[in-house]
Amino acid sequence: MAILVTGGAGFIGSHTVVELQNAGYEVVVVDNLCNSSEKSLERVKQITGKPVKFYKADILDREALNKIFEQESIDSCIHFAGLKAVGESVQKPWEYYENNISGTLTLVDVMRKHNVKNIIFSSSATVYGDPAFVPITEECPKGQCTNPYGWTKSMLEQILSDIQKADQEWNVVLLRYFNPIGAHQSGLIGENPNGIPNNLMPYITQVAVGKLKELGVFGNDYDTPDGTGVRDYIHVVDLAKGHVKALKKLEDHSGLSIYNLGTGKGYSVLDIVKNFEEATGVKIPYAIKPRRAGDIATCYASAEKAEKELGWKAEYDIKDMCRDSWNWQSKNPNGYEE
Ligand code: NAD
Ligand code: WQD
Repeated sequence: MAILVTGGAGFIGSHTVVELQNAGYEVVVVDNLCNSSEKSLERVKQITGKPVKFYKADILDREALNKIFEQESIDSCIHFAGLKAVGESVQKPWEYYENNISGTLTLVDVMRKHNVKNIIFSSSATVYGDPAFVPITEECPKGQCTNPYGWTKSMLEQILSDIQKADQEWNVVLLRYFNPIGAHQSGLIGENPNGIPNNLMPYITQVAVGKLKELGVFGNDYDTPDGTGVRDYIHVVDLAKGHVKALKKLEDHSGLSIYNLGTGKGYSVLDIVKNFEEATGVKIPYAIKPRRAGDIATCYASAEKAEKELGWKAEYDIKDMCRDSWNWQSKNPNGYEE
């Protein structure tokens, strides 16, 4: 039996494929490569020594999905495929709702037609909006999202919960990721954003490698210890391992479960700059800029539920995350391009 990994060529997907193969799972990847390169899967093979079965297909393509389910013996799906750029989602809401929501509806329909009713879904801390309290537990009420991307996650959580409620044969795990950074220790796979990065760590590593001049720090007047935004950064390898633990939960026929995947610790933008400089010895010039629309002051997880119920806990610290992000970027200044 195999695990279908949608979006498996992407940043978190490729790291998860490594951990799944290392744990002995057979993996089938489907990805349309709209935000990734097939080279990531060749690199996965270099790491694990095992080839990855890959289908280049769109999850909106019902026929292609049907064929995959006919050819492969799938028993669970880890569903990463989706568009994820917050700013772009404000400009192109239709494309985001179509890709993320219609794509998931199509996937789920094909799954149930083939009697595959186990799914792990990539959700996000963004569903908490401006959180009612920190550390954020899973009981914290969902909030108002500030962009269509966030709404797709919030709506898909609702859709998958309703589907599970109506048909208890479904097992659904919603994983709410905090801020994934870092890369596999080999430096062979990592985050490979298109164009100028929107997220903090890839921006910092591109400043470090000399592609960008300086980091803009978006606001230093938040109600936080140093005035800059505080987030819960988590090593992508820890995040990937969380999916292997969540699969075990699915195998126990657990119904609907929701987990935060974070470390429980908050770091400010300036903490990250400092830790990056200390971990790598590379100086990051920065300038304070106005706040970015839609940003919140503070967001970090309570990671207790995942520890208690999944036996999962993040192991890497912030210096490891900075070191591994830099290892990937410095070895691959142009990502997967030669
Ligand atoms: P990514 O863009 O690297 O990976 C997503 C993959 O999905 C890409 O390889 C892309 O080509 C593929 N894809 C997109 N639409 C598709 C479609 N219609 N059919 C087939 N493949 C398609 O992003 P990532 O950072 O690895 O994120 C993975 C998932 O985790 C996404 O759902 C994302 O929203 C979610 N998430 C990411 C973060 C983050 O900060 N990276 C945080 C929370 C949640
Ligand atoms: C982190 C901090 C910025 C860039 C986003 C999505 C969220 C989730 C993870 C998918 C903030 C500051 C950033 C820069 C900066 N993705 N910053 N200069 O905004 O917490 O979360 O990615 O689900 O939905 O919104 O992450 O890395 O963009 O920002 O000062 O050039 O760094 O203001 O305080 P964010 P981020």
